[in-house]
Amino acid sequence: MPTIATIEKRVSVRTYRPEAPSKDVLNEFMSRLSAINDPFDVPVTFHLLDAEASHVSSPVIVGATTYLAAKAPRRLGMEEAFGYAFEQAVLEATDMGLSTVWLAATIDRPAFEHAIDLGPNEVMPAVSPLGYAADKRSLREIAMRRGMKSDERLPFGSLFFAGDFDHPLSENEAGIWKTPLEMVRKAPSATNKQPWRAVVQDGCVHFFEQKTRGYAKDGVDIQKVDLGIALCHFEIAATETGCTGSLIREDAGITAPEGCEYIATWKRQG
Ligand SMILES: Cc1cc2nc3c(=O)[nH]c(=O)nc-3n(C[C@H](O)[C@H](O)[C@H](O)COP(=O)(O)O)c2cc1C
Repeated sequence: MPTIATIEKRVSVRTYRPEAPSKDVLNEFMSRLSAINDPFDVPVTFHLLDAEASHVSSPVIVGATTYLAAKAPRRLGMEEAFGYAFEQAVLEATDMGLSTVWLAATIDRPAFEHAIDLGPNEVMPAVSPLGYAADKRSLREIAMRRGMKSDERLPFGSLFFAGDFDHPLSENEAGIWKTPLEMVRKAPSATNKQPWRAVVQDGCVHFFEQKTRGYAKDGVDIQKVDLGIALCHFEIAATETGCTGSLIREDAGITAPEGCEYIATWKRQG
């Protein structure tokens, strides 16, 4: 099971050693994926791809021999479900000493879609290489991380709020939610835009998506995938810090800023 320590350890890797993970390692990884839970009731199915045999590649990846791809049926909640499930896979890989990077844009998309036999009513929002990190990042990877400020995150108080969007939440006031929200902050997101916002109110944490123009394409909103990732991190950390609860969709009617959409709520039990 991924833990807070796994979330802290995860980092995007685009430069790999040439050796492929062994069959045993990949079998163990796939057996872990079969235990992944799905609070959104949208099934996500995983496919391991040999890069050479399947002719799949990414212009930003050096050295990877194996990729993980996944697909979900095209329906309401598909992006959040995909983000939630695929991030669990990313964290399971991290736990096993394997490296990953979410790739949505910089891939040979037709090749991946062909390799997993994607149907017209299915989506494949992202894929990831799966392998062992090289000792040094490629120059391109160094430049990409610098360009996206990948080692930085927005301040706690500009992402999270108390009661409504007019009152920024400080780490000191966050109480039991501090660690779960910190783990949301550490989540990966497309071009590191960090679209997650959360409002803490009466034993509930309401999650919202602060949309960036142009990030919803071909009927898939990649920032909803980011929200699914954030919810995955939040739930792992809430559970580990002894806070029981569950994810529900029940819009509390909080007035949100322009371009900010309600996604889901974590409701504490007991
Ligand atoms: C949904 C999603 C899509 C992404 N797509 C790409 C991509 O197409 N190419 C890429 O190089 N990185 C991609 N990334 C990786 C982000 O750039 C990275 O997560 C972010 O810069 C933060 O860095 P970190 O993951 O090392 O914390 C994506 C991340 C997410 C969550």
